[in-house]
Amino acid sequence: MSDLVDEARKARENAAASFSKFKVGAALRTAAGKIYRGCNVENSTYGLTVCAERVALLSALAAGERKFTAIAVVTQSEEPSTPCGPCRPLMWEYCGDIEVTLANLAGQRVEYKLSTLFPYPFTFSVD
Ligand code: THU
Repeated sequence: MSDLVDEARKARENAAASFSKFKVGAALRTAAGKIYRGCNVENSTYGLTVCAERVALLSALAAGERKFTAIAVVTQSEEPSTPCGPCRPLMWEYCGDIEVTLANLAGQRVEYKLSTLFPYPFTFSVD
């Protein structure tokens, strides 16, 4: 099985981060073992910037995937950085309590279950 962090590191190379200069790569593994990569894509609207995690997730969903087991995220930060607020509920909704590996270019890695990074998720039901 290929190393998910390695995949995220390769995904990061495609980041379009000319505004922040902060390149992010993500790699999402499906239950069947397929990997979808994503990188952050910035643009001059600023507000329509898309995070690497969401690019990986949306591309997998658009390909028809619905079951996921793990995601890895690679950044250049001194400490591995955690997914942003808006990405967390989206990952929760479509991936459930997956393994999240956060890594930096120096090779540091930390692992969490998504429920640790996103406790008490919003849920709703209607009659
Ligand atoms: N970014 C991600 O791609 N993922 C995160 O979890 C946090 C932030 C991107 C968005 C923007 O392009 C850059 O990093 C700086 O915020």
